[in-house]
Amino acid sequence: MTQSLRLGINGASGRMGSSLLGLLEGDKRFALVHAVVSPASSKNGLPVSSGGINSLRYSHDWLSAPALDVVIDFSGPAGLSAVLDFCLANGTPLVTGTTGTDAGMEARLLKAAENIALLRAANFSLGVAVLTHLLREAAATLPDWDIEIVEAHHGRKQDAPSGTALALGHAAAVSRDVTLESSAVYAREGRTGERVDGSIGFAVVRGGDIVGEHTAMLIGQGERLELAHRATDRSIFARGALQAAHWLRGRAPGQWRLEDVIATPR
Ligand SMILES: NC(=O)c1ccc[n+]([C@@H]2O[C@H](COP(=O)([O-])OP(=O)(O)OC[C@H]3O[C@@H](n4cnc5c(N)ncnc54)[C@H](OP(=O)(O)O)[C@@H]3O)[C@@H](O)[C@H]2O)c1
Repeated sequence: MTQSLRLGINGASGRMGSSLLGLLEGDKRFALVHAVVSPASSKNGLPVSSGGINSLRYSHDWLSAPALDVVIDFSGPAGLSAVLDFCLANGTPLVTGTTGTDAGMEARLLKAAENIALLRAANFSLGVAVLTHLLREAAATLPDWDIEIVEAHHGRKQDAPSGTALALGHAAAVSRDVTLESSAVYAREGRTGERVDGSIGFAVVRGGDIVGEHTAMLIGQGERLELAHRATDRSIFARGALQAAHWLRGRAPGQWRLEDVIATPR
């Protein structure tokens, strides 16, 4: 049997970190050996009651980290910057779901992937990864059909359209050899005129406790194809990140995608 993967989590006390800790209980594929929180965290130094290592405590730094097979990061841009330094210095593969990164961090991540195995996703749902794959295929196979992307989320969400909707639009645009910047239509109101051929439209719904729903419509003459995904539980993101970490162990440096995990399961 393969040895348990020695895992580090960055952002271990957050919503996603807690969800990861919950899933790690009793999962023999992983041994959680380092759990990092922010420098100002009230959890710093307290015991982590998960991962099968009772003596493990939350830490606020990477200097004290033991040898790791993979790190999962759901912290934020500042946390990602620190863990990226650690992974580069130690050649450690990194799975990151942190969003809201600026252009400087994007450039650093691109460069880092020359030296470490890096897997990033704006959405760690395996279902959304398959949806993205199917949309890419459909957009290329039906080049003249209109594409519209509809997303729905809970009322507390701060940004629109969602990062996932934008990633879907980007995937569709790329498979038609255009950019999302040149084809996206984010709002329609008043006298909009006719739909522009080749454009990719977005529509947004907000309300209640919707975890996340995305529908990509390909609209032809007399028929319509709809590819839809509905999330009902946030733990899907943590589950996908763990599957990605398991897959990424020992991989060559590069920018890996969740779709790669699905295409070549371990
Ligand atoms: N890709 C996906 O599928 C997906 C899904 C959900 C969320 N996200 C993204 O993941 C990130 C975290 O989301 P969340 O909802 O879990 O946030 P959260 O609940 O606010 O948790 C953030 C965590 O990061 C820690 N942290 C903050 N600054 C840090 C630093 N400098 N170094 C180390 N740790 C640091 C926090 O520690 P303390 O609070 O203890 O100080 C906390 O543990 C966000 O960027 C979010 O957009 C991605």
